[in-house]
Amino acid sequence: MEARFSTWALVMLLFAAGAKRGFAGSLASYWGQNENEGSLADVCASGNYDILMLAFLNVFGNGQTPSLNLAGHCNTSSGGCQVLVSDVQSCQSNGKRVILSLGGSPDSGNYGLSSSQDAQNVAQYLWDNFLGGSSSSSPLGAVQLDGIDLDIEKKDGSQYYPDLITTLRSLAKNYGKSLYITAAPQCPFPDKNLGPGDGTALSAGVDIVFVQFYNNACGYQGTSDQLVAAWNQWTRSLSSSQVFLGLPASPNAADSGYVDPTTLINDILPQINKASNYGGVMLWNVFQDEQNNYSAQIKASVEMLAS
Ligand SMILES: *[C@@H]1O[C@H](CO)[C@@H](O)[C@H](O)[C@H]1NC(C)=O
Ligand SMILES: *[C@@H]1O[C@H](CO)[C@@H](O)[C@H](O)[C@H]1NC(C)=O
Repeated sequence: MEARFSTWALVMLLFAAGAKRGFAGSLASYWGQNENEGSLADVCASGNYDILMLAFLNVFGNGQTPSLNLAGHCNTSSGGCQVLVSDVQSCQSNGKRVILSLGGSPDSGNYGLSSSQDAQNVAQYLWDNFLGGSSSSSPLGAVQLDGIDLDIEKKDGSQYYPDLITTLRSLAKNYGKSLYITAAPQCPFPDKNLGPGDGTALSAGVDIVFVQFYNNACGYQGTSDQLVAAWNQWTRSLSSSQVFLGLPASPNAADSGYVDPTTLINDILPQINKASNYGGVMLWNVFQDEQNNYSAQIKASVEMLAS
């Protein structure tokens, strides 16, 4: 009797693990652009998110010394961000993934890759300072983040990202845990910087794609047809990546694209979670989400997968 029960329990466990399909049914958000959103550790402890992006490493490439902008949270140049070592560890020990996002708004920072060699140098810098390597001057101390996100929004910002990705993947062969490469294209397909297409990041192979359905014509604006059409194109084209629906977390978070929770739950999620590579929902950003109590209202529905 007991033995039979354990076999059954094992079968159920395997079934549950298979049904989860990687990150399917997850919530992701960007932390770092408003000091009033609370510490990273507190945000992870809220339980609202599975994946947090640190936003942003907004200076890199072209031989520059890379630099992080975490708004008022901390100042890396005076060593003030070392506090994040314990915050990141606390998130990771609660099963959250913490990913460094590169790029951000085209109006701030200074980033872009100037050659294949430049891309390899940036990859090595990321590995040494934020991933599995080591550096005596890491802005965040001895963190071992779970991945790198590409939010490349500057004009003419597409080149050499495949070299960055290939170098990171080869450095991470002996990481001892998964290294996730993620990207945040705009919803018009393909994204002008990230692709997919020859020589683009998305064609080089990205694990998770956070498609930004805001500030664009394919975002929600009273109707969802154009959103669902774009979603289907993204999920079919990037069949080996998990795809997230990226939304503003409040009406104030973007110029357009906000979806009220009821419409998201009743109209949109049941259409998009049919994709076998549905990942979940990405929210821009943690601060706006807290103001609007958005993730708490949608979380249970985001987790529900189509049968
Ligand atoms: C960060 O620290 C550096 C070095 O101490 C200082 O020059 C700079 O003004 C600080 N930046 C901010 C935004 O406080
Ligand atoms: C946020 O939403 C959750 C889920 O609907 C609800 O239980 C909670 O009371 C809300 N919190 C606030 C501050 O409105």
